[in-house]
Amino acid sequence: MMSTYLVTGAAGFIGSHSVEWLLGQGQRVVGVDNLRTGHLENLADARSSPRFEWVLADAGDEAAMRVLFEQHRFAGVLHLAALVSVPESFRDPALNSRLNLVAVDNLARLCLEFDCKRFVFASSAAVYGTAAALPNRESASPQPQSPYAAAKLAAEVMLLGYAASYGLEAVCLRYFNVYGPRQDPTSPYSGVLSIFTDRCQRGLPVTVYGDGEQTRDFVSVRDVARANGKSLLDTGVVVGRYNVCTGRAVSLNQVLAIYRELFPGVPPTTYAEARIGDIRHSLGDPQLLQDMLRFEAVILFAQGLRELALANR
Ligand SMILES: NC(=O)c1ccc[n+]([C@@H]2O[C@H](COP(=O)([O-])OP(=O)(O)OC[C@H]3O[C@@H](n4cnc5c(N)ncnc54)[C@H](O)[C@@H]3O)[C@@H](O)[C@H]2O)c1
Repeated sequence: MMSTYLVTGAAGFIGSHSVEWLLGQGQRVVGVDNLRTGHLENLADARSSPRFEWVLADAGDEAAMRVLFEQHRFAGVLHLAALVSVPESFRDPALNSRLNLVAVDNLARLCLEFDCKRFVFASSAAVYGTAAALPNRESASPQPQSPYAAAKLAAEVMLLGYAASYGLEAVCLRYFNVYGPRQDPTSPYSGVLSIFTDRCQRGLPVTVYGDGEQTRDFVSVRDVARANGKSLLDTGVVVGRYNVCTGRAVSLNQVLAIYRELFPGVPPTTYAEARIGDIRHSLGDPQLLQDMLRFEAVILFAQGLRELALANR
């Protein structure tokens, strides 16, 4: 049956891919974004679908969101809109709390009021912090190291509280390092792969902070969009928090070796002093989401990286 879903942060990197996935499943989608860090071009394909409605609005504006809930009987909400930069959360903790905690709470309460059961929330592997053992498992005690991570964790706790109190079907997805087409490379803190790709495409040398042996669990945005979509649509979800990751660690030097094949003319990599606060290794355990949703990240890193490198944004 065709249902209508609300996606906030729809014009963003993960949002636009998630919207396309849902439309591809024949669903109706209302996409909200205030274009703070997203781009309307990301929704070019989606906007050509008669099942997509674009709304320029602040997801934290309760009155504006209420109008949408009144107009549509949403079957579920995928909440991606956020202040996405960890350094910005340090500079402006009040804004971080408004966007990353209060806005989540507002939307969740609208869901309760309008009997919209399913709430899928974009959390982050950042909630684990540096102290948790690798690979990170959901049972580990989270140790947020930034206002950003603290707000994501607090929002998870609010949602799980509403699940226990009112039966909200809250699914909190902790994304690891998401990569793929449409990730904005303009911020120095943006995903490392979007920056590398942008530099290589322009024939400029890449700078690595540290020795390049730091590792990340890179997960393709196509897999993430599918995890989001399945979490919204699946009838048998279990309330909780779940890693969205591959369970495989890739070092930046391994990434660069692939880039050297794809862009043979790029000048040699420069290595600079490691950045304070950068974590050495990040790796998730994907088992819990696999057990709950039968979800597995299927895009192999080398394949996803090629697609990203050759994509014309
Ligand atoms: N990219 C990653 O590796 C990663 C990792 C962990 C968590 N996340 C989370 O995933 C979500 C999506 O991130 P992304 O990487 O796609 O970033 P993004 O910046 O591309 O997407 C966020 C979108 O939300 C919009 N937005 C921000 N505040 C808004 C508001 N108040 N009202 C309406 N729209 C608003 C922005 O304009 C943007 O389009 C975020 O919640 C982020 O914290 C991302």
